[in-house]
Amino acid sequence: MPYKDEQLSEEKVFKDPVHRYIHVKDQVVWDLIGTPEFQRLRRIKQLGTSYLTFHGAEHSRFNHSLGVYEIVRRIIYNFDGRPHWNTDERLLCLCAALLHDLGHGPFSHSFEKVFKLDHEDFTKKIILGDTHVNQILSRVSDNFAQNVADVINKTYQDKLVVSLISSQIDADRMDYLQRDAYFTGVSYGHFDMERILRVMRPIEDQVVIKETGMHAVEDYIMSRYQMYWQVYFHPVTRSAEVILSKILHRVKHLYEQNYKFRLKPTHFLSLFLGNATVKDYLRLDEPVVLYYFQMWMDEQDEILSDLCERFSNRHLFKYIEFNPNQQMKEWMELYSLFKAVGINPEYYLVDDSSSDLPYDFYRPGEEEERLPIHLLMPKSNELRELSRQSDIVESISGKKRTDHKLYFPQDFIEALPEDNNKKRIFEILFD
Ligand code: NI
Repeated sequence: MPYKDEQLSEEKVFKDPVHRYIHVKDQVVWDLIGTPEFQRLRRIKQLGTSYLTFHGAEHSRFNHSLGVYEIVRRIIYNFDGRPHWNTDERLLCLCAALLHDLGHGPFSHSFEKVFKLDHEDFTKKIILGDTHVNQILSRVSDNFAQNVADVINKTYQDKLVVSLISSQIDADRMDYLQRDAYFTGVSYGHFDMERILRVMRPIEDQVVIKETGMHAVEDYIMSRYQMYWQVYFHPVTRSAEVILSKILHRVKHLYEQNYKFRLKPTHFLSLFLGNATVKDYLRLDEPVVLYYFQMWMDEQDEILSDLCERFSNRHLFKYIEFNPNQQMKEWMELYSLFKAVGINPEYYLVDDSSSDLPYDFYRPGEEEERLPIHLLMPKSNELRELSRQSDIVESISGKKRTDHKLYFPQDFIEALPEDNNKKRIFEILFD
């Protein structure tokens, strides 16, 4: 029997708190899960620094990847026998779902910004490079690894397959919304996925939703909206993110100044130099990063040691609402005051806006590479974009509320000697 059709003699099931069970029958899928590259995802948290806000949010990209695989498995099980659905694409869909986040690194958001990395690029390199994952995919057929990479990259010719993994209502989002809601413990983020899966229909180039399922989809969009503000953009999580980015900047800066580290940033060097290979990249995971932070608390450099202490012990920056574009004068004054009192504003006065973050709720048309949600109207079989049909979705879609904050170490400011500088800093920040 060709490898692509090989089935396990007995089905494997993973117990999952969100989907109850994750079912694996294909030998290929089972072998992929066992690779070191996929197992590494256990050591990367799905929500980065959110565990410092929501202590339950310790779930990993491994959990999420299995979840996305399971949702796709259920969707295509329902597609079986329907027109437009090509059963030959089954294994490809499952593998692309399983591997779609393979290139995520530790605390992706900060690392990608500071070192100009792209996890999608690494996903592709891991799938196509000299890796265990590539060996397995190549056993299926000569071009199978390339096809998996193309589906994840949204360039695969069959757009129906692509839309299962990336569209406005794809398996990726349906998994992370529910999973993140479950692990953070918030009461938002729940929606009736069973119902959505039942009303999904394949057409030539995308998955659409039968009009009767509109209310279940409204609920899904609302859950995205709520999670966006309640969890993903939480200002405390962003405070931790700000500190993390500043640590990375500081380490890179010190390295460039030939600073003598007690613990050299060996695992980071290729990132500083911008020439990280797949092998270098795969060695970096969150336990490794956290080990460095722990050790760097004892570095001579006061900024590095302070920032690492803050991150490790959750001694975070405070924040206020502040828009530097509209409050330029105050911003510049604060900047000089910080310098005058000996608090380096490059590291300790940080503005951050939510538009920098990698989540959104629903913006049809704006996010071009992701298909909007289409409803399949009864009788006429005509397609209508969701926000044209639903008043609820219409009222929240396309709205872009940016949220600017200014982060700073309040404890440093409180410890300043009582003088006019301190008085003025307090006035600007707290009046
Ligand atoms: Ni994902």
